[in-house]
Amino acid sequence: MPRPRVFVTRRMAQEALDLLATELDVEVWPDDHAPPRDVLLKKTGECVALLTTVEDRIDEAVLAAGHGALKVVANCAVGFDNFDIQAATRLGVALSNTPGVLTKTTADLAFALILATARQVVQGDRDVRAGRWKSWHPFAYTGPDIHGATLGIIGLGQIGLEVARRAMGFEMTVLYYDPVRRPEAEETYGLTFCPDIPSALKEADFVSLHVPLTPDTRHMMGRDYLKLMKPTAILVNTARGAIVDHQALYEALRDGVIAGAGLDVTEPEPILPDHPLLTLPNVVVTPHVGSASLQTRREMALLAARNILAALNGREMPTCLNPEVLDGS
Ligand code: DGY
Repeated sequence: MPRPRVFVTRRMAQEALDLLATELDVEVWPDDHAPPRDVLLKKTGECVALLTTVEDRIDEAVLAAGHGALKVVANCAVGFDNFDIQAATRLGVALSNTPGVLTKTTADLAFALILATARQVVQGDRDVRAGRWKSWHPFAYTGPDIHGATLGIIGLGQIGLEVARRAMGFEMTVLYYDPVRRPEAEETYGLTFCPDIPSALKEADFVSLHVPLTPDTRHMMGRDYLKLMKPTAILVNTARGAIVDHQALYEALRDGVIAGAGLDVTEPEPILPDHPLLTLPNVVVTPHVGSASLQTRREMALLAARNILAALNGREMPTCLNPEVLDGS
């Protein structure tokens, strides 16, 4: 009898594929780009499970293409704005993400962007390679100090907290805004709570975004918020591109409203090579690599695989997004 199938939308860590293969027929999309929509719809119709990435839009049409046989979709990502959770719950499909395993790696990258943007690491490298660096000069490539500066964290979830912990090592003052106040984190790490986002933006030398993309946060960092930041401040985004209004950011950077931006995520992704932001020297853009360490990508794939097997075997999924599907409530 043929075994149930799982469609994996990208090549992933072999350990995760091997784990899935203990119980399932595993088909891996061989391209390095997302499967086209028609392929995704067709494969969904043949499978009990999908293992997806942030680029795969799992909406009602895809979920319905499972014709009731699709049981679980596991995102190899902590973010899940590519999922229609309500439709999945209605259609009885369990969803999962990968919180926890990528927290520290993503915080490392947020810090790398703080450092790279402030200290002009990328521009310096470009100039050295192009032969434009001619001599040491007291004013060349100067930027703000990171140590001793004030960091504003917008969204103190797991990743935001890890960024705060790294900031301690740089002797920074850390402010945070989160809808839920975290007195224990304030006490343990000396963080200062801001009752709203504007208070954090006004005080911070560096602002790091760690909120999920929702209708409320889409383009949250627009003209009004950017204007509140200091003209010397640097904005870092490792969350989701659409949280920032890129036209407003471009204008703010061009006009000196803020001093710089380090972006691991953009809108759209990939950002188009002729995007005006890429003409500015005070922007560092990385290709959505917050979780891209070898160990973390392996752990993410394994966690996604474990979620799939748990769902199919009626066991508690390690990180289910809609457990009501499983408990029948
Ligand atoms: C996530 O996990 O949400 C990242 O953006 C993809 O690694």
